[in-house]
Amino acid sequence: MSSAKSHETIQSVLSENRVFDPTADFVARARLDAAKLDALHAAAAKDPVGFWADLAKKELAWQTPFTEALDESNAPNYRWFADGKTNVSVNCLDRHLATRGDKIAIRFEGEKGDTRHYTYKQLYAEVCKLANGLKSLGIRAGDRVVIYMPMVPEAVIAMQACARIGAVHSVVFGGFSATSLKDRIEDAGARLVITADGGHRGGNIVELKKAVDDALAAGAKTIEKVVMLKRTGHEVPFIEGRDLWWHELMAQQADRCDPAWVEAEHPLFLLYTSGSTGKPKGIQHSSAGYLLGATLTCQWVFDLRDDDVFWCTADVGWITGHSYVAYGPLSNGATILMYEGAPTVPDAGRFWKLCQDHGVTIFYTAPTAIRALMKLGDSFPAQYDLSKLRLLGSVGEPINPEAWMWYHRVIGKEKLPIVDTWWQTETGSIMIAPVPGAVPTKPGSCTKPLPGIFADVVDESGEPVKEANAGGYLVIRKPWPSMLRTIWGDNERYIKTYWAQFGNKYYVAGDSAHRDADGYFWIMGRVDDVLNVSGHRLGTMEVESALVAHPRVAEAAVVGRPHEVKGEAVFAFVICKGARPTGAEAEQLAKELRDHVAKQIGAIAKPDDIRFADNLPKTRSGKIMRRLLRSIARGEAITQDTSTLENPAIVDQLAGKA
Ligand code: PRX
Repeated sequence: MSSAKSHETIQSVLSENRVFDPTADFVARARLDAAKLDALHAAAAKDPVGFWADLAKKELAWQTPFTEALDESNAPNYRWFADGKTNVSVNCLDRHLATRGDKIAIRFEGEKGDTRHYTYKQLYAEVCKLANGLKSLGIRAGDRVVIYMPMVPEAVIAMQACARIGAVHSVVFGGFSATSLKDRIEDAGARLVITADGGHRGGNIVELKKAVDDALAAGAKTIEKVVMLKRTGHEVPFIEGRDLWWHELMAQQADRCDPAWVEAEHPLFLLYTSGSTGKPKGIQHSSAGYLLGATLTCQWVFDLRDDDVFWCTADVGWITGHSYVAYGPLSNGATILMYEGAPTVPDAGRFWKLCQDHGVTIFYTAPTAIRALMKLGDSFPAQYDLSKLRLLGSVGEPINPEAWMWYHRVIGKEKLPIVDTWWQTETGSIMIAPVPGAVPTKPGSCTKPLPGIFADVVDESGEPVKEANAGGYLVIRKPWPSMLRTIWGDNERYIKTYWAQFGNKYYVAGDSAHRDADGYFWIMGRVDDVLNVSGHRLGTMEVESALVAHPRVAEAAVVGRPHEVKGEAVFAFVICKGARPTGAEAEQLAKELRDHVAKQIGAIAKPDDIRFADNLPKTRSGKIMRRLLRSIARGEAITQDTSTLENPAIVDQLAGKA
């Protein structure tokens, strides 16, 4: 089983045997205790489809109730609640107005310390105004709208406004380049972009509008209009006839907008993510099934209640920001915090200061952030009052036990449950995670599948791996409501990527995992050519394509190597056209290539290491020996048989020895 994790990490995970029970206080107030959780599991085991149908009736507001819960006639293109009609924004806003209209929905703080908030009534009015604004621009149900914004409340308003009129949003993370933006707009066939003049991050301005202009100059011809929020106020080009200011569009609109009642399966959004080929795929999510997953997991995993302040630090450009910023908490009528900037501005205490100042009770972040803040020391969290916190969460990559223990000790004061949540862009909502009042935790394990989620670990032939601690493929045996519906414009790729490996019987996650003797799941990493850099998915082929697009590069191979903070770092082996650069020329070209990759994809894809060689290690049939490159990148001893290589002498040069 190939795995992205280093041998040492696997060893430290395998020898991990500490168990932490939730405190009696937590259990006493928890929404779900062990008995209630057992009852949910039993109900799901007895009648998996009926289980979801009952919850969909109870948790969501329907305009037309559904009569059939699951349509399997076209499996693995499953359809849930298909003849029902609903609207996601009604579920997130309208249904709270009577009981929670004056409750704060969004608390916001910018990097410079500016704050504002929106009550449910105010958020509803803003969403309605923008929805009317979008309609006035001719946007209709089913049209695609690309959102390319900083982490400000208007990003959520834009998503909710699309949902209100049935437009399909595709949020592109503001750290992606103009080229990535253009590719996504073109693949989605979007008619409109919603952006901002810029955003604040790390003391700098993120030039969002410039990237939009560059993307539209290079292609993306389907775009008719660009709506631009004034956020930074710095001078940006304004193209008459195409560009509109957000505030001018909003000023003319009524603050009531009848929702579009859409079918349950109506696409709510596309979100692009990396796979093992060069082209990112547009993961298509439904309306009702998706929202059901996001809503329930907030209750089950985050124990979300009316008096909580929930802070998920993820950007809305990622699935975590969709499900646990924009949709799940609002569907539950909760208060969320949004923060625009970097975690270390002005210093490494910023996250903890935000928790203190906003009274955050539930804090959900990524291991990479935990590791980065852990490195900067215990003195920062010690300066702030974190006593309101009652639950901590982690997502995006395996959390190493050391980081888990620091989180537990320094932030959780050895009392707070930590929910390590395994899921993916494709799964829509959390799949494997502890229910905090019911399931004891182990550092580094995401524990057990949630009710209704039939996760398993299988071998090459699809048989369950029974032996404890033996690795295999992580699969989900039955469909679940928040699953992806297809890959936008490429259903064949959907079937091939997620289902074909085991005859369309199970959803194949692309991760390797094992279970311990208690049935706890331990995720070991990706089995495909996908890296996880700071919790962000990155296809090695995407980076390779970006590199070979540079005029000096003839060939490139990209692998991951372990990185203390990022989890994995990008390591690129590059073959140049002409002579192999050395010395100062090599340094200069490496810098140029890093910037080139940032321009092609985004800063997250910049290789940490670039090594120039005369050739790649290829077998006689021309296949690149990636395992060998991975060993070299990790500085491991070469144990692979290199005698099958066309050019065995190249190994020393690749290893930097010649
Ligand atoms: O490899 C797994 C890892 O992140 C991948 C999904 O990435 P993405 O679609 O970007 O979604 C990230 C946020 C949900 C998975 O295939 N991953 C995510 N969460 C965990 C994880 N690996 C281990 N433990 C986790 N808790």
